[in-house]
This record gives sequence, structure tokens and C-alpha cells, in this order.
Amino acid sequence: MRKEKIADGIHMLTMNVDEILFEGMWEAVNGVTLNSYIVQGEKTAIIDGVIGWDGVPETLYKNMEEIGVDPQSIDYLVVNHMEPDHSGWISNFMKIKDDFTIICTEKAAKMVTSFYGEDKIRVVKEGDTLDLGKGRVLSFHPVPNVHWPDTMYTYDMESGTLFSCDMFGAFGTMGDHCFDDELTPEEVDFFETEGIRYYSNVMATFTASVKKAIEKAKTLEIRTIAPGHGPVYRKNPKKIMDDYARFARYAEGAGKNEITILWGSMYGMTGKALEHAESVLRREGVRYSKLEAARTSDSEIVASLFRAAGIIIAAPTYEYKLFPPVAAALSEAGRKRITGKAAFRFGSYGWSGGAENELKEIVERNRMNWDFVEPVEFEGAPKEEDLARVEAGVLKLIEKMKEKAE
Ligand code: FEO
Repeated sequence: MRKEKIADGIHMLTMNVDEILFEGMWEAVNGVTLNSYIVQGEKTAIIDGVIGWDGVPETLYKNMEEIGVDPQSIDYLVVNHMEPDHSGWISNFMKIKDDFTIICTEKAAKMVTSFYGEDKIRVVKEGDTLDLGKGRVLSFHPVPNVHWPDTMYTYDMESGTLFSCDMFGAFGTMGDHCFDDELTPEEVDFFETEGIRYYSNVMATFTASVKKAIEKAKTLEIRTIAPGHGPVYRKNPKKIMDDYARFARYAEGAGKNEITILWGSMYGMTGKALEHAESVLRREGVRYSKLEAARTSDSEIVASLFRAAGIIIAAPTYEYKLFPPVAAALSEAGRKRITGKAAFRFGSYGWSGGAENELKEIVERNRMNWDFVEPVEFEGAPKEEDLARVEAGVLKLIEKMKEKAE
């Protein structure tokens, strides 16, 4: 765990966590940071706690002491969000101290009670404040569904620091650099990639709420954004706000000027057509990523589909339906509300077709509203005329994605 001063009387305690499945399912290949903030006036508040994935908070207490904060002196636990990566330490804290007040939204209060049986709760609403003394006043601003219904921003009026919890966060562990003005160009790229992975895996379902939360942030005079995951933005907080606005557009069909190929092939027939499609992409100078659904994590697939302006689905019929690993990956993208993408599917069939019917069913059931080029299906191995149809489909997709690329 590291300690960083954010402003006079405000410290961040941050911990890197590696080799986890975030929320028990998302492979965070580059880990994640958990950030906690201590705010001191005459009284002391902790905004979201940080503990190891094993649930033991002793490191948190030790680090508090090293910045001169006795855990026993904490008066307020500000719970921006009840998900246990931020609040899991509370039950342990209750064992060492029992006279404190939890500050949270009404929605969180119900969950605090159900998780911890706690009755020392002050429920806050939009614009409510907490005066810690010495001129330090925190204000509270609910931002429901980023990422649970309970979530709120906490804002320090003196320093202009927004404690945004999951909002404006990213996957990826931090090395020596925790602030935007310290990041090398490579680290900026790293947190762009990890921010997209985090947004697509964790936040994309709630894009409508994210857009409202961006607008709410704009109403505050923000000088620093201090999220619960990833770097702190003190030089240019507008950058991460603009990035999140862009990510919201990605969830609604925009994307980088590149194609993601999601593919599977039982015996190489669809694979042959895919080789031809790739040669067309190379010839046309289109950047692309190629993910074999059966061998790639959901985290990577969802992030890649989310990021790209154009999608190629290369998958055969399997038992009268769409090749199962591809169908499962697309269903997950649908659950994540990745909508409006330009897309093209081709694939082989043997005894009968059926893949297209399931693809349509997935897209309609999840209201994905993807804009498809006419599909290409062929019996067994692709013939010359089938390859020509695949090529024509790829070229149409490249045209179609131009209006969505940014
Ligand atoms: Fe970082 Fe929704 O928890």
C-alpha cells in the first residue's frame, strides 16, 4: 500500500491487487488499484476503505498511522458505494471502534444495514454537506448506477477534489506514478487501454447513468478527480471526463477506427474465408484485432468489441445454431449493452444453416441494434464465389464503419 498527499489534509492510500477476477468474473490481466482517501479537518473522515482481497485491513490501519491518523480517531466513514471492494473493511473496523457515523445515500443505507446490521447511519441527499471543521466541508452528490444504485460523489469544497469512486476509474495497477502529470506517454496509453477494459467490463451496462454523472460533475468546480480505481487527475481532470464521454459513445456504436474480428472455426472452413477477409483488411490498410472466442477471456472480448467501430463475426453453424463460443461472447456483449456497432458475419454450414437465426435472436433480445452488412453463408469449404462475397461484405463494412469511427 502507498500513501500520497492529494492536498493539505487529504491523503490517498492506494493498494495494487493482482491476479484477481474482478467481481468474480472479469480477468483483470493487469490488476487493479483500490484507492482510499483520508480527509482531515478537526474531525477525520475516510472515504471508501482499502483492504486486500483476503479481507484483512491491518495494512490500512498501519498506513493510516504512518500519515499520523490514528484509526481510533476516525469520526466518519463516507461510503460512496457499497460494493465490497470499497466497503468490505467496515465490518472489521467495527471491531476496533464503535463510535463513528457512516455517511451514505438512502439506497446504500439499506444495504449497510443488511450487510452489517449497522444503525449509526446519516443518510445524505443531493447537496447535503458535512463540516469537518477548520474550513473543510464535504458535499455529497448521488450518481445512481455508476455503478450500483447506491453510488454518490463526495466533493471537497476547499480543494475542489471530487472523490468519484468507480466513476472515472480504470483497471491496471499503478507503479511509481499515481498522478496524471507524472504518467509517461506509455503509462497514459496503458491507462487508456485499461480504462476501456474497465468501462466495458464494469460500467458499460450503465452508460445512460454515466452520461448523467458526467453532467453532474460538470456542475462542480473540479480541480482534482480522485477515483476509487486508477490514477488521480490533478493536472487535467477534464481529460478523464472527456475520455468517459468518449467511452459512453463507444457503448452506443462509435469506436476507434479499427475492426475486431470475433471468430471460431470447427474444421477450418470458416477459417479459410477469414484468411481471405484478413488479406482484404491488410490490403485496405484497416487495423484489426482477431480474437478466437473459445480461447479468449470475456474481459478481452467485451473490451475489444466495445472499442472497435466495426465488427467481423466469422463463425459457422453448429448444431443448427451459431458456433457456441461466439454466441456466448456476443450474448455477454449484449448484456453489457454494447449497441449500434457496424458488423458483418460470414460462416460455413454443413447439413443445414441456423447460425444467422441465433445471431438475430441474440441481437434482438439484447436490443443491441447492430447495423449489419448482408451476411455470407456457404456450404462446407468456401468456393471462389463465396470468397468474392466475403470480400464484398468486408468492403461494405469498411464503408459503413467510417461514420462511426472517431
Ligand atoms: Fe469498485 Fe462497483 O466497485
